[in-house]
Amino acid sequence: MATKKDVFDNYDQFIFPTYARLPVVFVKGKGSVLTDMDGKKYLDFFPGWGVSNVGHCHPKVVAAVRDQIGKLIHIPNNFFGINQSKLAKEIIRNAFDGKAFFCNSGAEANEAAIKFARLFGGAFPGAEGGRFEIITTLNSFHGRTMGAISATGQAKHQKGFAPLLQGFVTLPFNDIDAVRAALTPRTVAVMLELVQGEGGLNIASVDYVRSLRQLCDEKKLLLIVDEVQTGMGRTGEMFAYKHYGIVPDVMTLAKGLGGGLPIGAMIAHRHVAHLLQPGMHGTTFGGSPLVTKAALGVFEALHKDKMLKNARIMGVYMIERLKEFQKRYTFIKEVRGVGLMIGVELFIEGKGIFDACFENGLIINCTQGKVLRIMPALNVTRKEVDKALGILEKALVAAKT
Ligand SMILES: Cc1ncc(COP(=O)(O)O)c(C=O)c1O
Repeated sequence: MATKKDVFDNYDQFIFPTYARLPVVFVKGKGSVLTDMDGKKYLDFFPGWGVSNVGHCHPKVVAAVRDQIGKLIHIPNNFFGINQSKLAKEIIRNAFDGKAFFCNSGAEANEAAIKFARLFGGAFPGAEGGRFEIITTLNSFHGRTMGAISATGQAKHQKGFAPLLQGFVTLPFNDIDAVRAALTPRTVAVMLELVQGEGGLNIASVDYVRSLRQLCDEKKLLLIVDEVQTGMGRTGEMFAYKHYGIVPDVMTLAKGLGGGLPIGAMIAHRHVAHLLQPGMHGTTFGGSPLVTKAALGVFEALHKDKMLKNARIMGVYMIERLKEFQKRYTFIKEVRGVGLMIGVELFIEGKGIFDACFENGLIINCTQGKVLRIMPALNVTRKEVDKALGILEKALVAAKT
């Protein structure tokens, strides 16, 4: 059997060091608990960066995959698929009327959305011809492909990869006046995360989003919401746009959609869905029988286990408790969140707290150096939350001293 050292050595020799990896090898996951090679258990309050919203190895996902894997794993998209057809219908039933394109990741879903915006700009040109400029926001994160890093409003993800894709204008988040001032005859879309995850847990204001919707209607722009992280119940609604009383024209999904299996989707509203025609876009793996079956299992799990309700209740509880911490630990600047997408912004660097949590068996995330990002599975129990907050408080005490 491979030892931990064998695993580390293989990574060292044969795998690109694209990530700063923690020195742990997980071999088992169940709900909010991960077990490593040594049998040590961890509470996972950042499961798969938002992938395992229904917890690790949810029985409904496991059963769906087991049922499908011996029958048919993959067929390409020049054939019809039962599960893909059901999944598209289920997403639309939970979102808005339109059509889905299935791919394999969040970045790919955003690539599809960017291409879709270009098509829209060609179909509805401005006075000066085809429109192609997409307005994005500072501190956004849309993925690692060339299109997605060009859309991403953080220079650190773009460094070394010039020239970027043309046609993106990056503006401050939550600033509708900046959007109004940046409009040109070439503007075709506004693309944003409603809660910026990687960018520091920044929540779009209701006024901003409603004004964006209005502006997009007035100027015939597409409103594209990247729900790769916020979607699939993360914020206590199936999709974060539902908090705002608006409907986007395009939405991208990935992460939580497959319950751990790789799947992405770009959904376009029916009023523009006709723009994507045969041959314009595609992917060999996208929407295979296996991953779409897993995603159907995710929807079933979310509904049957009433996870959105639990996410709202646990989210309110955690934020309340974290705000109590804020009174005791003056280096906590702000606690903010929606549903179970929670950020604790610090005046100090968060790495020490992150490390202490990890050491004591709690996995969270620290983004932008000073924001602890906490996103447990949507079926997390109060007991698990209390245990996690106990470990976190221990780490806060250590940071204070
Ligand atoms: C909001 C958002 N969009 C896109 C992506 C990229 O998704 P993927 O890593 O699946 O390509 C991420 C990943 O963290 C994300 O948080």
